[in-house]
Amino acid sequence: MQDEPDLLTATSAVLAMNDRGNYTQPAHGLYPHQWLWDSCFIAIGLRHLDVERAKSELLSLLRGQWQNGMLPNIIFRDDPQYRTDRNIWRSWVNPYAPNDATTTGITQPPMLAEAVVQVGAKLAWPERRSWYAIMYPALVRYHEWLYDERDPHHEGLVLQIHPWETGLDNTPPWIAEMHDHQLPFWITAIKATHADKIINLFRRDTKSVPMDERFSTIEALTLFDIQRRLRRKSYDINKILDHSLLTIEDLSFNSIFIRANSHLRQIAASLRQELPRELLTSMERTEKALEGLWDPYSNQYFSRDFVTHRLLKTPTIATLLPLYAGTITKERAAVLVRLLENEQAFGPAFPIPSVPVNSFWYNPRLYWQGPAWVNMNWLIIDGLKRYGYKDHAAALTESTLEMVAKAGSYEYFDPRDGSGAGAANFSWTAALAIDLFKTQKRPSG
Ligand code: GLC
Repeated sequence: MQDEPDLLTATSAVLAMNDRGNYTQPAHGLYPHQWLWDSCFIAIGLRHLDVERAKSELLSLLRGQWQNGMLPNIIFRDDPQYRTDRNIWRSWVNPYAPNDATTTGITQPPMLAEAVVQVGAKLAWPERRSWYAIMYPALVRYHEWLYDERDPHHEGLVLQIHPWETGLDNTPPWIAEMHDHQLPFWITAIKATHADKIINLFRRDTKSVPMDERFSTIEALTLFDIQRRLRRKSYDINKILDHSLLTIEDLSFNSIFIRANSHLRQIAASLRQELPRELLTSMERTEKALEGLWDPYSNQYFSRDFVTHRLLKTPTIATLLPLYAGTITKERAAVLVRLLENEQAFGPAFPIPSVPVNSFWYNPRLYWQGPAWVNMNWLIIDGLKRYGYKDHAAALTESTLEMVAKAGSYEYFDPRDGSGAGAANFSWTAALAIDLFKTQKRPSG
């Protein structure tokens, strides 16, 4: 493994290269805008290099916040060359969209509270209080929006309306649901006539990354179709639910939300603020509702269809995220840790694969269907530590840093040999490697 100066120099250079002033693009070319959970992970790394810059990374997310509280997954750059991206989403069709920023109409996992606390940990108390005071109202509005719009029946779990909202864009349960229920006639016709081969030629993403590491063209078109249908409903959740578009209570999103809620309670307590009663009640409900996702037959958690409550029994990396949520019992945590120890499940040479090795879906270099991702490792390392699995956390930290040191800050990694795949010089990989490195050496963080 590389030594400290080499790894820190290489990863810091990636962040500097992708720095766009007050935010960091995920990767040059493929991801030129500001993404929500990317900026959260990036700030967690940046706090070790420049805490003021880490703060501006998160503050700049607030310029995209909708008046109803939603934080969009992307804030677009306003250069003329990105007009098509902005026009695909047309956030201005919704009256709550901000006037001075163009965004998507969907969100991403609520990592912001975690990032605010991690950045806060680098500040002495008076500065930390001011930092919390700035971010607190935006966080409350965001969490309230998640409950108001995404938990319409007050069941405790929040629903997602596009695979990109999970951040695990190409994850099997969503892709399977899309293929089974969402292919409109025109895409079925393209599939039948193999016209997708021609459309391939016009894809922008496969100019940066090999075709076999990205979604298929049929899937890309279906994602586009789902997005267009959301736009036609002006991103209005009531209209979306009336037309039963794709709606899933995603396991990874809800696990992250549970942890975010606990961070928000901590922030409120440090500020001596009372969170709204209704919000506190909803938060408690979510912790209980997570247990409704447990499948006693296969001994693991799954995502669930919002309308039918059918569990989507395709195991993925989300299976392990209840460790990060931190509210499951020690017994259930132990069951999940055994899956991590199993070479045929989540424990190949360079863990953690985004679907288990013994899955029908497993493909070690395909976007979210096999490769290891540093952000997932970071979340699970955090969960392992809190459940007392210090040795597992240390081993996973070491193998994660080894992948990044050997291959570079790739977007994802082949779990067989740790080689890099997807975009090169990917910001959250660099940022979280910095954090894992620093907190490994200095446990206080
Ligand atoms: C990535 C991920 C998504 C991320 C985005 C920008 O490929 O799937 O979670 O936010 O693209 O980095």
